[in-house]
Amino acid sequence: MVGRKVGIIGAGFVGATAAYSLTMTGACHEVILYDINTDIAKGKALDIGQSTSYAPKGTIVTAAEDASGLKNCDVIVITAGVPRKSDMTRADLLMINAKIMKDVVGNVMKYSPNAIILCVSNPLDIMTHVIHKLTAWKRNRIIGMAGALDGARMSYQINQKIGYGSGQIKSMLIGDHGQNMIPMPEISTVGGVPLNQLISKEDMQAIIERTKDGGAEIVKHLGTSAYYAPGRAISVMVEAILDDSRIVMPSSVLLDGEYGYKDITVGVPVVLGANGIEKIIELELDDETKSKFKVSVDSIQDGIDILEKNGFFNSF
Ligand code: LAC
Repeated sequence: MVGRKVGIIGAGFVGATAAYSLTMTGACHEVILYDINTDIAKGKALDIGQSTSYAPKGTIVTAAEDASGLKNCDVIVITAGVPRKSDMTRADLLMINAKIMKDVVGNVMKYSPNAIILCVSNPLDIMTHVIHKLTAWKRNRIIGMAGALDGARMSYQINQKIGYGSGQIKSMLIGDHGQNMIPMPEISTVGGVPLNQLISKEDMQAIIERTKDGGAEIVKHLGTSAYYAPGRAISVMVEAILDDSRIVMPSSVLLDGEYGYKDITVGVPVVLGANGIEKIIELELDDETKSKFKVSVDSIQDGIDILEKNGFFNSF
């Protein structure tokens, strides 16, 4: 364990909750929080650091004064970005967050050139793509966190419906982290039992809709985005990378011919290990799912096209 360093860029609710989850599981030796608001990073690093008195293992939690504090991290989690405000167009949001990625990724390349990057910033699949373009790193080192969260939301809804199987529900989804995500009950299971033998089609449809709406449902109550489930999902992925445990997890990755697409970043099941993406698993999709996947890919491509039209990719 010693020497495993995780840098978290953006010490808002999601970044801090990921840090807290990492310290509670003892997955790494050191967590460094970095935020443009240094006081937020410092305050949260102190608070989370003090919580480790009651953690199973000691973890050093620090705040970086500036980006140089992110030196030699094994994994960098990027949560920086602004949420969409009512007066912003989709193009506005894309440009603002893509520019934030540019600053952030420049620092990662400078100070942690060997890190694996876990992108959490939204719109998730598009920001993951932007990071690929900015770094030109091998694709195994850049992963978008979405399926881990959306799958957890689907498993929660399944558990709420059937009332059993907690911890045994394995939900698979592919596609984007948005309205066109594709939950796949046909290959999801509870303790190895196929879902379609446990849940009616109608009930499953309701679960699918609520899963797709999972993030928005929480925003409606809280007035801000979710962070406990996202934080825990980040932590699970970081743990898999640091432990080289090679778990299968739907994640947003750059396709290079898989599923019939190239140069697009979208959620598919992958094997997560020490090298980041160890393998992309190509599911056999039926025609209906293939066309849903195309809709999902097209929606991500639309976002990339907006950045292209606004000259983002010419700016570096
Ligand atoms: C959500 C945000 C974190 O889905 O992407 O809640």
